[in-house]
Amino acid sequence: MQITKRLKSLLFETIYNYIEEGIAFIDRNGTIIYYNRQMAELEGLEQEEVIEKHLWDIFPTFNPQNSTIMKAFNTGEPVINDEQHYLNNKGKKISAVVTDIPIVDRGEVIGVIEIARDIYKSKNLYDAINRIQGQEECPKKSSKEKALSLYTFDDFKTQDEQLLKLIERTKKISASDSNVLIYGETGTGKEIFAQSIHSASKRRNMPFIAQNCAAIPENLLESILFGTVKGSFTGALDRPGLFEQADGGTILLDELNSMPYTLQGKFLRVLEEGVVRRVGAIKENRVDVRVIATVNKEPLSLIEKKVLRDDLFYRLSVISIHIPPLRARREDILWLADFFIEKHKHISRKKSPKLSKEVKKAFLNYSWNGNVRELENVIESALNVVGEEEEIKIEHFPYYLIDRLTDVKHQELIKSNVYKTYNEVVENFEKKIISDALNKADGNVSKAAKILNIKRQTLQHKLKKFKIN
Ligand SMILES: Nc1ncnc2c1ncn2[C@@H]1O[C@H](COP(=O)(O)OP(=O)(O)OP(=O)(O)O)[C@@H](O)[C@H]1O
Ligand SMILES: [Mg+2]
Repeated sequence: MQITKRLKSLLFETIYNYIEEGIAFIDRNGTIIYYNRQMAELEGLEQEEVIEKHLWDIFPTFNPQNSTIMKAFNTGEPVINDEQHYLNNKGKKISAVVTDIPIVDRGEVIGVIEIARDIYKSKNLYDAINRIQGQEECPKKSSKEKALSLYTFDDFKTQDEQLLKLIERTKKISASDSNVLIYGETGTGKEIFAQSIHSASKRRNMPFIAQNCAAIPENLLESILFGTVKGSFTGALDRPGLFEQADGGTILLDELNSMPYTLQGKFLRVLEEGVVRRVGAIKENRVDVRVIATVNKEPLSLIEKKVLRDDLFYRLSVISIHIPPLRARREDILWLADFFIEKHKHISRKKSPKLSKEVKKAFLNYSWNGNVRELENVIESALNVVGEEEEIKIEHFPYYLIDRLTDVKHQELIKSNVYKTYNEVVENFEKKIISDALNKADGNVSKAAKILNIKRQTLQHKLKKFKIN
């Protein structure tokens, strides 16, 4: 069999698609000509938004002086295994080990091939685990120290009837060893709830260990949670995972929906049988941990989408808690605002300024996507600028919020038909469906365009026009 041009290109295409490394080809103008799927995954981008774009447009932290691609291009020498930390144009931080090889054709450098690997995959795994667990050197001790400052139910402030009842019910069941699943949007107080349950249980003097499943590369999560044994991979030593470190206490697994599906199966065994097997081990260790898990999306929809295993869900949701978003607890909005003014009043020179009428109205209509955390931050920031004034007014808030708060006002006027121009009504409707689509797509423009069934470029244009971030 002869290697024909066609076979050659087939071979290379297959290799590019199946090896683990990200591969890109950048031409002499700095335009990205080739960019494989793995590179897109590594850099948190879509292939189609990168191809034929200029390097500096996609990676704003690179320039002709610091780019190893440019170095390879200018010197004609490869740059091998350089550890790089950089940002993409969406602000995502990327850590990779890259090799840049100049491609020479008839004595002339025509471009550079870049091969990149996830830093966690390429560096020895053990190093990475150590780095991530760095602060946990002595977990038992540190969690005991921390136990002194854990939240209790008194820290969860609300006036909402349903929530007050939920707190009372949860207090009663905290004493049991049942697992707990908490569902709530970001900033609704899931961590406060989880710590309070631990503080109210008989495990209160034992460790409370929290791990966010979304914060760790998938391939490391298993080693972190279950531990490793010497020799299970290069550099691995005998090391207990978080389940073992939390023995006798409570482990909080945040954003459980980010745990890989297969790992959820292994996790279920810990819940069912109370044993953990370290990565690479034969022996199992008995552990006694209470698990509290959180999800920030509706659990049943996560099960439907096969993001969350149903058997795990049923096992976990012996106690199931839903904390409603702030926008659905209207009586809490102003009450909590006052509470946070009191809490942070030392910031302003005037004692406890009041919210102006206009602010109150805007607050009640605002969507509070960041929930109570956002409300608290917003109050703190206003207290910083209110000075000697008696009232906190719209102009005391951060710019981003003024826009949105006043936009709410604008929406209201639309509703009440004060604005009657055709264009304004249409524009506002457009803005709303675009924002909804973006929310559904978790901010991913390509996905949002698909939902709206319009071209990505069209959507991009509208985002610019309506100044939507
Ligand atoms: N009901 C509440 N009473 C007082 N403070 C609250 C309440 N809810 C939230 N907060 C404040 O908001 C912050 C965020 O709460 P918490 O970390 O518990 O949210 P979360 O639901 O775990 O969010 P995420 O999903 O982003 O991790 C807290 O540090 C606290 O300052
Ligand atoms: Mg949390």
